[in-house]
Amino acid sequence: MKVAVIGAAGGIGQALALLLKNNLPAGSDLALYDIAPVTPGVAADLGHIPTPVTVSGFSGEDPTPALVDADVVLISAGVARKPGMDREDLFNVNAGIVKSLAEKIAVVCPTACVGIITNPVNTTVAIAADVLKKAGVYDKRRLFGVTTLDVIRSETFVGQLKGLDPTKINVPVIGGHSGVTILPLLSQVEGVEFSSEEVSWLTIRIQDAGTEVVEAKAGGGSATLSMGQAACRFGLSLVRALQGEANIVECAYVEGRGEHTRFFAQPVKLGKEGVEEILGYGELSDFERSSLDGMLETLSNDISKGEAFAK
Ligand SMILES: NC(=O)c1ccc[n+]([C@@H]2O[C@H](COP(=O)([O-])OP(=O)(O)OC[C@H]3O[C@@H](n4cnc5c(N)ncnc54)[C@H](O)[C@@H]3O)[C@@H](O)[C@H]2O)c1
Repeated sequence: MKVAVIGAAGGIGQALALLLKNNLPAGSDLALYDIAPVTPGVAADLGHIPTPVTVSGFSGEDPTPALVDADVVLISAGVARKPGMDREDLFNVNAGIVKSLAEKIAVVCPTACVGIITNPVNTTVAIAADVLKKAGVYDKRRLFGVTTLDVIRSETFVGQLKGLDPTKINVPVIGGHSGVTILPLLSQVEGVEFSSEEVSWLTIRIQDAGTEVVEAKAGGGSATLSMGQAACRFGLSLVRALQGEANIVECAYVEGRGEHTRFFAQPVKLGKEGVEEILGYGELSDFERSSLDGMLETLSNDISKGEAFAK
């Protein structure tokens, strides 16, 4: 497997690259690309870690050398939030970056599975999809918005609240990846009961968790280490599924049946071609049903904005 990290010199990219260097299966290739000139140095640095994963690093204007023969491409290229900004504020810069990267992917590695981390994910995934579609290479099974950070935050916060081991907690998170579009399904956490007050504040804490980090970093960026871990978990799941391991399930923002919106985050079974099956998410509580109804207009507007930009 060859995994490319695009935006690899950034806060997320470096954390992700370190985790992948240590956790990808033996024999994998890890390729790093970033416009920042430090990128070959990041690769050289990682290359001194004794694991059976080779690392290469490229900078400059052209991501092609990192993308050639890639099976998985994880994109965190772009600008991150500062205090007072929401993810939408990143659109002007990041939309163009994702568009031009998707144009390259369409030519260089059109069959790769692509995970988009760059915000606003609700919109950047729609941009990438339509750029790939215009190039005639779009396969909805192979494009993902990476929403795993919402899942790991939910697992952590539920574990803290209930005094449980967070590694044993599984919280599906559906919808999208910003504000009210992030909906953790707390009613479906096995073996754990929540009061309605707990559901209400936990949901808000999970939705605002990114802002919690942005404010705590006081102008120094947004979540990078937890996001690196989340993207690594998602990337490794994808690699295992592409290599034929069965029953790998992750929540991700994908183009599904369009039951709610064209793109929607929900549990998906991963397989040798990317998405093997979009899974249901069971019966919702009244709170979750009304939160879902309340997010759909925002999510659809976010998607339309991406579609309009890609045109
Ligand atoms: N999906 C999520 O859950 C989630 C969570 C946190 C952050 N993010 C998003 O991830 C993105 C990156 O965050 P970060 O903290 O790593 O930011 P960062 O500023 O530390 O790193 C971004 C990197 O992208 C590089 N870059 C910019 N334009 C590029 C291009 N055209 N090609 C290649 N590389 C390019 C920069 O040189 C920089 O190294 C932001 O958009 C942020 O909002 C997403």
